[in-house]
Amino acid sequence: MCGITGFIGYEEAAPILIRALKKLEYRGYDSAGIAIIHDEKIFVRKMKGRINLLEESLVENPLSGQAGIGHTRWATHGEPSDINSHPHTDSDGSIAIVHNGIIENYIKLKQWLQSRGVVFLSDTDTEVIAHIINHFYRNGNGAILQAVIETLKLLDGSYALAVVCADYPDRIIAVRKDSPLIAGSGAAGSFIASDIPALLEYTHDVYFLNDGEIAVLYRDHIELRGNEGEIILRATTHIDWDAESAVKNDFPHFMLKEIFEQPKAMEDALRPRLKKNDLNNALNNTLIDFDEIKFDENWADARRIVITACGTAYNAGVIGKYAFEHFARIPVEVDIASEYRYRNPIFNKHDIFIVISQSGETADTLAAMRLIKQNGGRVIAITNAPGSTLSREADTTVYTYAGPEIAVASTKAFTSQVMCIYLLALELGRFRGHIQGGLYQKYIAALSAIPAQARQILDKKEVIQRFASRQYNKTKMFFMGRQFDYPVSMESALKLKEISYTHSEAFAAGELKHGPIALIGADTLVISFATQKVLFEKMASNIREVTSRGAASLVITWEGGDFFDTITDETFALPKTEDCFSPLLAVIPAQLFSYYCAIQRGNDPDKPRNLAKSVTVE
Ligand code: G6P
Repeated sequence: MCGITGFIGYEEAAPILIRALKKLEYRGYDSAGIAIIHDEKIFVRKMKGRINLLEESLVENPLSGQAGIGHTRWATHGEPSDINSHPHTDSDGSIAIVHNGIIENYIKLKQWLQSRGVVFLSDTDTEVIAHIINHFYRNGNGAILQAVIETLKLLDGSYALAVVCADYPDRIIAVRKDSPLIAGSGAAGSFIASDIPALLEYTHDVYFLNDGEIAVLYRDHIELRGNEGEIILRATTHIDWDAESAVKNDFPHFMLKEIFEQPKAMEDALRPRLKKNDLNNALNNTLIDFDEIKFDENWADARRIVITACGTAYNAGVIGKYAFEHFARIPVEVDIASEYRYRNPIFNKHDIFIVISQSGETADTLAAMRLIKQNGGRVIAITNAPGSTLSREADTTVYTYAGPEIAVASTKAFTSQVMCIYLLALELGRFRGHIQGGLYQKYIAALSAIPAQARQILDKKEVIQRFASRQYNKTKMFFMGRQFDYPVSMESALKLKEISYTHSEAFAAGELKHGPIALIGADTLVISFATQKVLFEKMASNIREVTSRGAASLVITWEGGDFFDTITDETFALPKTEDCFSPLLAVIPAQLFSYYCAIQRGNDPDKPRNLAKSVTVE
């Protein structure tokens, strides 16, 4: 949701900014722009539409200079248009800014500025910032940093902000509050960006700015300052993500690449947490060991687990409910973060709180985490993003190690979250005495086999591709399942609507007769997950109920059986694992189905309309 970047160094800035903006495309945007400083003047180029348009314009009519800022805008205040695109400047064009976030009190500030004769060009909240900086700059002692500091004191809301001033061509000032921003220096110069993939090409050592912190970028170093301008000394954090992991390689889309990276992502989530038992007890030779988590009296005394998250991470949380209750016999409540934060939840000292977020920057998820902490809860974060706000503010962080996920629709982050959840649930089950030796080992062996089984599913991608080419134009697509198959249905329906724009819904198959069946007809496809063997008969009845009303049907079930073959148009067979681990495998054909439907419909699955990868505002 809006991407910002900045560069000051020894090379032409415009191509570097464009490359960085392309790496931030996944965040979602509708316009793009850059501002370059050259000969103590600021030159802005910005326009509605894709970055390619901006790039083409820069090829035709280049902007030269070795310092600048860039932005991809996801419209909130004011329609997508050239004028509303960032950067925005003050009235004399000597200060330019890019902004990610929302200035909540901008109307009041705008009225104040207008009363002083300032004329606004755009409908954005952001433009006020440029004019206020100008105000303090012109009426102060001419120090741009001080003018920015004074401006920040007037702003309510969230921001990641980068500022350039024509009188200070040697620096970029960047600051954050409640919106992500990182800064790093490499051989080419100094950089800022909203997210790590934009910088990987140049540096792996970055500062994650804390709220209120200011980074002043010079071509050869970065100065960190506090909100009153005081110098802060802090070491950079090393990011060991591979720059290659943020490029498509031979895949047509990041989404397909990331679907195919799932065996490795699940392996990377699993392996560091499996340790050989030194006692070499044959019955108990592998242990789950999270270095990050010590199962202590808090876990022994816990009476409830509360999980909160948004979007796909929420669906992983629902699988968590089934998993913790199944393995550890502890009640679990799962909440959508935006609901949790406003519904006056009940806190209890025997609660364990788990907050899940791929990006670690989702505004509602962070607010839920802060609410838990204010109420004395200790938060375990499950996230993919090192240095993210969630990882820094949570008490404990479990990293999913999925590597950068660029496509807006989450795939490998989901399965690696689910893998971490299973490991936690299993270990808690052992710790609380519900799972013993042989069974525990059997479960670990099953989880260890999942990455190879996921590869087998990916090898059959053509089966799903063909099925999608026949079904993609159905007007309604439903997913149903029972028990562990229900949250997989939820995640599959979300994936499909996100990128194919098909009306899709998930329901617990037992709910079919309580409403959804009224929608079933010849224009409907129903994809049923049937991996819970004890519920096969019940699923078979539900499948008959939809096919007898004209719906097309696909059943995703275990290989080696023909239980559903006579009652469905198609079956997709999964390699066998424990029924309780089926979500890790069953979701893969559904992800592929969504991807191929999006392709058939001519959509760009990596950048679905209206969606943002990281929703950093409410
Ligand atoms: C957005 C993304 C989803 C993601 C959700 C939560 O809606 O498009 O893919 O699941 O945010 O994001 P998080 O980073 O908190 O997991």
